[in-house]
Amino acid sequence: MTAPDQPPAGLNTRCIHAGEALDPSTGAYGVPLYANTTYGFHSYEQVEAWEAGAPHFHYARDGSPTVRCFELKMADLEGAEAAVGTATGMAAISGTLLHLVPAGKHLVASEHIYPITRRLLCEDLARWGATVSFVDGTDPAAVGEAIRPETAAIYVEACSNPALRVPDLDALGEVARDRDVPLVVDATFLSPALLRPLEHGAGIVLHSATKYLSGHGNVVAGIVCGQRDTIAGIAASLSRLGATMSPFAAWLLLAGIKTLPLRIERHVTNALALARLLEAHPAVAHVSYPGLDCHPDHAVATRLLGDRGSGGMVSFGLAGGKPALRAFLNTLYIPTIAVSLGDVGSLIWPFSGSDLIRFSVGTEDLPDLTADLTRALDAAGLAREAG
Ligand SMILES: Cc1ncc(COP(=O)(O)O)c(C=O)c1O
Repeated sequence: MTAPDQPPAGLNTRCIHAGEALDPSTGAYGVPLYANTTYGFHSYEQVEAWEAGAPHFHYARDGSPTVRCFELKMADLEGAEAAVGTATGMAAISGTLLHLVPAGKHLVASEHIYPITRRLLCEDLARWGATVSFVDGTDPAAVGEAIRPETAAIYVEACSNPALRVPDLDALGEVARDRDVPLVVDATFLSPALLRPLEHGAGIVLHSATKYLSGHGNVVAGIVCGQRDTIAGIAASLSRLGATMSPFAAWLLLAGIKTLPLRIERHVTNALALARLLEAHPAVAHVSYPGLDCHPDHAVATRLLGDRGSGGMVSFGLAGGKPALRAFLNTLYIPTIAVSLGDVGSLIWPFSGSDLIRFSVGTEDLPDLTADLTRALDAAGLAREAG
């Protein structure tokens, strides 16, 4: 085999092949699952060479060949110098912020973020001696105004959970560059198949790999991508926290991610069609999908995402309160009532204390999803009229 002058540029090709090679000792095609705890040295000289910086795996909490391959693949897909795998998406966020925002420093965070991340910032960040200001992440001027001399990072979600707000990463990247503060982007809801935040001025992109990167609901994991030195610092924090990725998680992810662009294409097609269906149905009070003209960030999303589409997540609310919600959820047949998202199967979750329903649109056949959703919305409409 002769390597081409230019590495393959297509996303499908890279999802399948980047970071992978035939196993050097067996020729196995597909990265083997190296479940080993520790890695031996043949001699004292080899230990000395490793201590002087020669690459060598030594202890699985600090890396393994299987995890390494996934990290290399993700660095390639995000256009990053390096990546580090983490035990969960929350480990990716906490490890990154623990490294970037130490005691005495300050974080500017978007108010449009995953509720557990918000709690991490409000409760744990304060406990380790850092402070946070929340601003509207879709307002770059507000983000700039919130930056102080001790601000060590800006934190946003590329498409927020659950409100699906899309900040202008180009404008935020400019703010980050001007003020010399790294922009950290959680891109879980979009994946590198739709958006690569480093190309828009972010310093770090991270994901809950549990979601679209896996796609098959069989792993909890995370990934952080960025510059080599920063990633090395985050990796060291993660090792001490005990929050690094397991080889088994990496092995499952290496299988799942091969079909990422194919899956995302279908998620996007289905989500846009179902968002339009929801928008037109009288049982629906409101719909949020960045691909709809009525979405407040539609223009930004269109500019950032181009014709790749606005992802597979749709949020909406029903008219008719609890009776309508009960009828809707109990009539739905295909989507599973469950948290999590990004799975090939549709998942739907009602947020308690609000009328918000988050729909992770799966890759099932669109006519099946359309028929199922219509049936359930009709039932919600009848329940509303009866109530
Ligand atoms: C946007 C976002 N970031 C991070 C996380 C946390 O990921 P994990 O559940 O893998 O810890 C989630 C979980 O839903 C999420 O939606």
